[in-house]
Formats: sequence, structure tokens, C-alpha cells
Amino acid sequence: MEIEKENKMEPWETIKTEATKAIGAAESLDALEAVRVEYLGRKGKLRAAMDTIKDVPKEDRAQFGKEANEVKDSLTLAFDEKKNALEADAPPVEEYFDDTIPGIKPRLGTEHPVLKTLRDISSIFERLGFTILRGPEVEDAWHAFDALNIPESHPARNPEDNFVLENDMYLRSQTSTIQIRAMQKMQPPIRVLGPGRVYRPDTVDASHYFQFHQIEGLVVDTNITFKDLKSVLNLFVREYFGREIKTRFRPHYFPFTEPSAELDVACLVCSGGGCPACSGKGFQEMLGCGMVDPIVFEKVGYDPGMYTGFAFGLGVERLCMQKYEVRDIRLFVENDVRFLRQFQF
Ligand code: DAH
Repeated sequence: MEIEKENKMEPWETIKTEATKAIGAAESLDALEAVRVEYLGRKGKLRAAMDTIKDVPKEDRAQFGKEANEVKDSLTLAFDEKKNALEADAPPVEEYFDDTIPGIKPRLGTEHPVLKTLRDISSIFERLGFTILRGPEVEDAWHAFDALNIPESHPARNPEDNFVLENDMYLRSQTSTIQIRAMQKMQPPIRVLGPGRVYRPDTVDASHYFQFHQIEGLVVDTNITFKDLKSVLNLFVREYFGREIKTRFRPHYFPFTEPSAELDVACLVCSGGGCPACSGKGFQEMLGCGMVDPIVFEKVGYDPGMYTGFAFGLGVERLCMQKYEVRDIRLFVENDVRFLRQFQF
């Protein structure tokens, strides 16, 4: 009798243990509901066990029913507690995150085309052993003019062509001032690149702005010749445009170089035939250059009998406009994202 009774009791313990374990393991409301159906549902294991009451001897039925109800109550309680816990953990419906929906692309900014050009040019010369040197934008008359062999009488000193500050100070109109700073600071051999902003009170139009960027180059050593100037600048042109382009060195005048030249490149649009982009000339002006004038060496205390050198200066905006066919310099400063976004390199 005792044994029989125990056998009858067994299903409750087993069901209780299994169900408690399953409730504990359910990680979602759906999983928990499946557990509920399996054990507490109309066709669940508890119901099936209860149905065996008919096989239980009459005198034991009361005990059987009592135990059945205890298990049912305790499982119902465990189920409700777990359901509350899962509901508290589950995010509210409006915060539901569907990670299969394609994301919103963040709009990345782009490098400004002028900065990009400046970096590209610098890296070409850095590979040739040039180091970067910066100079002040506010200069005294000696660095801005005298040391560059620009005498009082020279039109470049005309106050109308310069931003003149107090105490005979100026906003530099060219990065050539960095040449002077470099030679004052260092001894040859020198190979420096001087990028920076320059200022000119020009009337603003499609190709002029009162502030723009230049890059200056200076090489000083014993035995530097015009041949070095030509080979370095020809190599630069090829690297900058990424292809072989015909160049020409056209004689010119700059106070601080002798001889001086303008470097022209075959028109990037018509390759030299003549078109509206080059005003029919077949060439476009690219930069100014020349052999450092011995007078400049004297100004900075170098022995012109010992050293020679070459220098060049280029306009960053202009080179950027040539390469990317930008037609108006003002686009660089208007911050119109429709323009800037095109430079997604
Ligand atoms: N500074 C000149 C300009 O603004 C450009 C230039 C010409 C720079 C000849 C040089 C040079 O260093 O040698 O037009």
C-alpha cells in the first residue's frame, strides 16, 4: 500500500521538477508560453496526470487531489512570477529595435579640396626630401620686401596692393617671405617647402580672392643649377597630374630670383592646340620659379660665392582649379555642400 501510494505521488514531483526547470530556462515570453501550454495547458502534463485519479484507490484520492492542486498552484505562481520578470526585462514596444532594417548612413564630411591639394603637393615634395616650414602671416617690411630684393620704389610695395597694418607691418602677399625665414634659421643644404595663406586686396572675381594659399619651395646647396630646378619641377608636374604633361619654362621677372621663369603646362583641356580654357594659347600658367638672386643670399648672410639655389612659388587654389576644372575661386570659400560634396576622394 505504502509503495503504491508513493508510485501515485511520483508524477507530481517529476512534473514539478521538470516544469520549474523549464520555467527558469525560458528566456522569452514566447518560450514561457510554450512551457505553460506543455505543463499547465488543457492538454498539458498536469491535466494528464490529474486524469489518472480514477486509478487511485478511493481512500487516497483526497491526498492525490491535494498534492495535484499544490503542484498546480506552485507552478502557476512560478509561471506568473517569471512572466512578470520577463515583461519587465522586455523593451517597451515603441523601443523595439529591428536590426534587419538597413541603417541610416551618417553623412561624413569631406576634405576641403584646397587642403587636399595642399597635402597632395606637400607629399610629392616630401618624397623628394623637402621638409615643411611655416612662417608668420604678419610680416615686417624687411622680411616682406627688403630681404626679397623688393626696393622702396617697387610697385609690389604699393600700399594699395597690400594689407598694411600698424607699425610698418603687413599681411604677407606671398609665401616667398618663408624663404627668408628659412635661410635665417638654417644653414645649407636646405630643401624646404613653405605652405601658407597669403593676402592681397584684389577685386574679387572668378579667379581672384583677397586671401588664398601658396606653397613656396627653396633649395640651397653648393652646385645647384637651373637643371636641378627643371628636373624637380618637371617631376612635380608629372606626379601632381598623374601623367606626362608637356611643360615650358617661359622667361619672366621676379625680384628675388635671377634668372626667373614662369612654368607653363600644356593646356589640360586641349593639350596645346588652343581652346577657350587657355585663351587659345595652348598653355596654362602654373607657377613662378628661378635661381635665388645672389643679392638675397647677401641679405641673409650667405656667401653667394659658395652657394646657389632655386626657388618656386605656386598658388594652391589655382592648381586645384586646373586639376579639378573648378571655374570660380569663390566656390572654395562659400561652403556650399553641393560643391564640397563632390570631392569625396
Ligand atoms: N611669389 C611669387 C608670386 O607670388 C611666386 C614666385 C616666383 C615664388 C618665383 C618664387 C620664385 O619662389 O622663385 O607670384
